[in-house]
Amino acid sequence: MMLNNCIRIEREHDIAIVVIDNPPINAGSLEVRSGLLAAIEEVKFDVAVNGIVIIGAGNTFVAGSDLREFGQPLADPQLPAVIAAIESCEKPVVAALHGAALGGGYELALGCDARIALAGTVVGLPEVTLGIIPGAGGTQRLARLAGIPKAISLVCSGERVSSEEALSLGLIDKVAATSLRKEAISLAREMRGRKARVRDMPVPVCDESSITKAAESALRAGKCRPAVHAAINCISLAKTLPIDLALVDERSAFQSLRTSREARALRHQFFAQRDAAKHPALETAMPRPIKNVAVIGAGTMGAGIAIAALDAGFDVAVLERDDVALSRGIDRIRNHYRSRVDAGKLHAAEAAARDARLRGSLDWSTVAVADLVIEAVFEDLQIKQDVFRLLDEVARQGAILASNTSYSDLDAIAAVTSRPQDVVGLHFFSPAHVMRLLEIVHGAATSPEVIATSLQFARRLHKQPVVSANAFGFIGNRIYAAYRRQCEFMLEEGASPQQVDAALESFGFAMGPFTVGDLSGLDIAWRMRQSLAATRDPMARYVCIPDLLCEAGRLGRKSGAGYYLYEQEGGARRPDLLVEKIINSARAAKGIVPRQIGDDEITKRALLAMTNEAALLLQEGVAHRASDIDVAMVNGYGFPKWEGGPVFWASERAVDQLEEEFDWLAELSGPGFVRGDAQQLFPSNREV
Ligand code: NAI
Repeated sequence: MMLNNCIRIEREHDIAIVVIDNPPINAGSLEVRSGLLAAIEEVKFDVAVNGIVIIGAGNTFVAGSDLREFGQPLADPQLPAVIAAIESCEKPVVAALHGAALGGGYELALGCDARIALAGTVVGLPEVTLGIIPGAGGTQRLARLAGIPKAISLVCSGERVSSEEALSLGLIDKVAATSLRKEAISLAREMRGRKARVRDMPVPVCDESSITKAAESALRAGKCRPAVHAAINCISLAKTLPIDLALVDERSAFQSLRTSREARALRHQFFAQRDAAKHPALETAMPRPIKNVAVIGAGTMGAGIAIAALDAGFDVAVLERDDVALSRGIDRIRNHYRSRVDAGKLHAAEAAARDARLRGSLDWSTVAVADLVIEAVFEDLQIKQDVFRLLDEVARQGAILASNTSYSDLDAIAAVTSRPQDVVGLHFFSPAHVMRLLEIVHGAATSPEVIATSLQFARRLHKQPVVSANAFGFIGNRIYAAYRRQCEFMLEEGASPQQVDAALESFGFAMGPFTVGDLSGLDIAWRMRQSLAATRDPMARYVCIPDLLCEAGRLGRKSGAGYYLYEQEGGARRPDLLVEKIINSARAAKGIVPRQIGDDEITKRALLAMTNEAALLLQEGVAHRASDIDVAMVNGYGFPKWEGGPVFWASERAVDQLEEEFDWLAELSGPGFVRGDAQQLFPSNREV
């Protein structure tokens, strides 16, 4: 019996099976909620029905709520009303879970009398990662099943729990051995005449110190964001308040967080990430199959890329220029797996399986079997071109030839091959096996098939792709360079490195720009500036402070000093009088009288520099979507996720105001600054 487009009732003798059919993820939309309510109404007084099973059609149970509804007032019936109907129905209701039961989906399951899951199912309440909290009883019911400390850690981390662990924690009651549907029906039948509502269960006794400990560690991991605080408060209510009162508080905290700026920013980032993985190439071209990957160069990046590919199940060959470099690279990879095994994060057998898929070689004919070759040699166009000439000779026809270059011209690399259509940029971030961002750079000739394959490769690596056209610095490094340059302007004008870093860290960046510079080494950008010196506009404003630091041997953390002093390896950064002197001498040489620069000005100029560059990237067609820029900056450059990204930040301002602010920034920045068109940042159909 169809109740609406998403819900139908099937019968198995005395059991009513309510099927949720809202592809692709059975999201808990308004139609799903109203259909579920109608289904309970339909069967609750039916004397022929002894029990009810709620199950998802397709690949999953309800994998989450429909986030598009969250930006507006929620339409009735809302989820708490559906759960109240299930709880007040006298017949037992069993939730049959497969795929994922997340967020509102798992709250629905918590509202049932029992939960049975197919092996491989994941359950969890990831709302906090979207700046909200579970708002349909999740905080109260989970506390009753798992205890308050565990509920705090699960809700605040948003962790997805496997069916095996969920069973041991009491989050589900049973793992189905063979057929989920059949076993759920048997369970409903066994429960005939009996309710087992989670709301009636006692909260497991625990001492206050374990709650405090869980709360402290959740706040630390969750960077004290408002949703983490609210989740801890609500879960803690389970200890003292009757459930109905606690549910009122939970709902009201959920409602106010739902419309907060932070939640809107996180929803924006969620949709932006989803969109960034889409590209017209996926509609027109068939991705090529990839099994064998060859990585050329096993330095910092090559080793990380090899690990990422091994982790994703590929066969990986690593090529180096000599024995010493090869064994250093292979050791790097093996040491990584050894330390993961030692830390208990990987089974020794799994590490051995990955090692069996790894091969080191100095013989270029090894590349012949590769479906994808990723070059990660020194950042030098000539060396890269030599490597690609060789690859063109040895790689099989149809193999994809990728470069991990950060700055080289992809077209100039592709031009030395006879197959520029197969050449693409795969720009990983360091450490490559950890960082989520992968910029996919298409040259003038890169074929749609190669872009589609690269996007699929990113998905298999669990990376977040962003597609960029070929231009100096692509998307991420171009924006970051504009941001860093603006911060250097402020140093010259009167701010100190520690003041700039502190202001931007308090905005939410993981690290300020000068701390980042010290960490990655100031010599990389120094070399880059030297190589560009001949082509630089001599009239453009140029801050020589970083050059002076490098000339003084201050290359960053690795040399014990950069913008800061590091008294011991891995130790804390310390402001240094010598840096102050160097900055003062640079100011004096230009006749600049330093002025006080407030933290607000620092943050505003840094963000405007990013958004101005974002507008230029859109104007030039380097970035295809404004939101792709936000995805790149959040996933690769430490931009705070809860601020949505620089474009989201800008789009919260009126366009006229932004135009004025771009003028202000241009004036402060001086000669050589290219002003963007703020209109570019306001696409009419932004989905937030
Ligand atoms: P690295 O210096 O650590 O490693 C380069 C490796 O390439 C060395 O092991 C070297 O022996 C090997 N190599 C050089 N010439 C070779 C040849 N002809 N054949 C085979 N192997 C050769 O450099 P890193 O940092 O790993 O950078 C590699 C590439 O990745 C560069 O293009 C760089 O711009 C890019 N990149 C670097 C990032 C970073 O944070 N280090 C981030 C993203 C991209």
